[in-house]
Order: sequence, then C-alpha cells, then structure tokens
Amino acid sequence: MAIASDKLKFTFISVEETTSTNDLARQFARQGPEGLVITAKRQTRGRGRRGRSWYSEPGGLYFSILLKPTLPPGEAAKITLAAGVAIVEVLQKLYSLPAELKWPNDVLVSGKKIAGILCERLAHSANASSVIVGIGINTNQTISGLPKQLQATAGSIRSLAGTEVDHDFLLKQILTRFDHYYHRLLSGNASQVLDLAKHYTTLFGRTVKVVTETEVFTAKACGISEQGALVIEKTDGSRHELWAADVSIQTVIDPTIDQER
Ligand code: BTN
Repeated sequence: MAIASDKLKFTFISVEETTSTNDLARQFARQGPEGLVITAKRQTRGRGRRGRSWYSEPGGLYFSILLKPTLPPGEAAKITLAAGVAIVEVLQKLYSLPAELKWPNDVLVSGKKIAGILCERLAHSANASSVIVGIGINTNQTISGLPKQLQATAGSIRSLAGTEVDHDFLLKQILTRFDHYYHRLLSGNASQVLDLAKHYTTLFGRTVKVVTETEVFTAKACGISEQGALVIEKTDGSRHELWAADVSIQTVIDPTIDQER
C-alpha cells in the first residue's frame, strides 16, 4: 500500500508482533526506502528514551518511520520536535484534546503522558545516515488495563476523549502532518517547527527536575534554543542549554502553581 503525501512516499509493513518497530526498521535502514513505515500490534521489547521500556501490549499504536534526511546531525535532532508538533496538532484536531508537548519527546494531555517519540540515528558512512522515528501512542487502552506503575502518569485517547481510535486513520493523519513539518526542516526552514514546539510546550516558567548521568538539580525551564535544546535557568541565575540525549526532565511541584503535573 502507498499513500500520496506532500513529499514522502509512504510504504507500509505491518506485523502482528516484533521486539520493537525501531529494531525492525533498523534492518531496512540501509536498503529500505525513505518513508517506510513499520507498524506492530504488539512489541515485546518496546523501548523509550534513556533505556526505558515502552508498554506495548495490543491496544496502542506503535510505529516507526524510516528517513534519510539530508541534514547535518544537529538539524536532524529537530525531527523529534517535528514529530511532537504533528502529534499534538492531530490529537487536538481529531479528538479535541488539549495536547501539549513536553520537551523533548513526550506528548501529554491533562498532565498524563499519551505519546512518546524515540528518534534514533544510524550513520552508514561519512555522508549517508538514516533516522528512525519511533512513535508510541496510547489509544484504545483503558487506564485500569495499563500496568499499575503507569496508571497515575499515563493516559490514553480513549480514556481522555471517550473515543475508540481507528489506528489506520490516526496513523495517516500523523504521517501527513509530520511530512509537512519534516520538509520544513529539509528546506532549511526550522523556525516554524521551533516556534510551534515552543507554542505547544507548557513547561516554560515552571520548575523542573533535571536528571543527567552525573547530577540531579532543579531549575526553571525558559525556552527552546534555535538548535532545539531546552534552555534552563539554574537557581544561581546562570542559563544553560540541555540536549535531549543527555537529560531527563521531570516536572515538579512548583510553589507558584497549585498543581503537580
Ligand atoms: C519515550 O517515551 O521515551 C519514547 C517512547 C517511544 C515508543 C515507540 S513505540 C514504537 C517505537 N518502537 C519502540 O521500541 N519505541 C518506539
């Protein structure tokens, strides 16, 4: 099957089960066409960022997109933001959900994580590389059907919008939207993607807990830089840029707001 879109020609491989659609996409990374989309009904080793696992029983939407971007690695980092913006907009439009972005790769609704993005870059040679954009969305799961440890922090479209999700329809809406923003990046016009990423991010002005390999500290989230890094202000007033690969950001109770998120 192939669907027409702005620029990418999407082709699809759908499997019942795999370890991870990102793993399967890796097997096609060298020879496979740009725009290959791999979907699975279930993943046995679904992965998230920073070694976390992604709950992947049937009921959610799990897929990976194979890309061959002609972008320097720094620009390719913005692909995660392009995917996040696309997901936020589609959830708002299709289900009227107040979806928001949590830098760099989470989509939240009412403080509950509903989708996650895992971008992985594979260098084939000095000039050739692939990027695999893995996306997991909690769609038709009930909250009581999720593992206990996720029930307080995760949501699903069904639980939040009261709607049964048609996976094929949702997938195509996200792909079309993503394609649009991906080509903004390719044409050197990242500013629209960055502006929208900032617009959909509600973290700014809030206190966050920053967890790196070597330290944990609280800081104020201030914005997203031109390069796609999170700008934070430490308690001593110094400003720093945080890169997605290096940190995990947790929202914390902020004395200036009345709700933990
Ligand atoms: C995160 O929240 O840290 C990212 C989660 C990404 C999950 C998706 S599901 C499809 C693809 N395959 C994986 O193993 N992970 C991504």
